[in-house]
Amino acid sequence: MKSVITIDGPSGAGKGTIARLLAKRLGYGYLDTGALYRAVAWKAREMKIDPEDESSLAKLLKDVSISFIGERISVDGMDVSSEIRTAEIGELSSRISAIPVVRQGLFEIQRDMCLKGKVVIEGRDTGTVIFPESENKFYLDAGVEERAGRRYEELKLKDLCITLEATVEDIKKRDTRDSTRKTSPLTRTGDMIYIDSTGLSIEEVVEKVMDHLKK
Ligand code: DC
Repeated sequence: MKSVITIDGPSGAGKGTIARLLAKRLGYGYLDTGALYRAVAWKAREMKIDPEDESSLAKLLKDVSISFIGERISVDGMDVSSEIRTAEIGELSSRISAIPVVRQGLFEIQRDMCLKGKVVIEGRDTGTVIFPESENKFYLDAGVEERAGRRYEELKLKDLCITLEATVEDIKKRDTRDSTRKTSPLTRTGDMIYIDSTGLSIEEVVEKVMDHLKK
């Protein structure tokens, strides 16, 4: 399957930036699957659902309508593009993403969104679970300090109280949770091209991906 390019990797590895640029260069669509988990987390918080309450989350997944217009994301008709980009929703989305009913509900949504055309999809299990049949799978990584530094630069624009130390701790906690959960943990498999972006510019990483695609 050549119409779907998957990019997996830990928080702050630059998947979003790279996937977006790659999609633009190739004329593909782009799906940020983390935004879907964040949207569900946002809705669960709005509904005051306990993140451990599986049956309420299952009902939420059945009823909710999530849509993208370009890169903006709406939940039940409300644009939540900026509301989902906080440290609190990041943490909550990591917690609910460990719950199997949430992953099952979002599985269908992700497949449906991508099978309509050519897409670059990025997340934690896009090459292992969502599109294991893809022929172009990448795993994007970077050192934890660099990843935390990038996240910190994004978050401090919105949250003046955030510190770099707290962001490093948060990234480490999320790395552990995302890669040790029972359902679809973040995993690097042998059929993925591994790219370590530590010390590389965005353009250099995109070039590396393009070189592999040309091969
Ligand atoms: O990439 P992000 O920080 O926006 O993702 C938010 C959380 O969603 C992340 O901590 C784990 C979860 N997630 C996931 O489990 N599987 C995906 N494919 C994407 C995100």
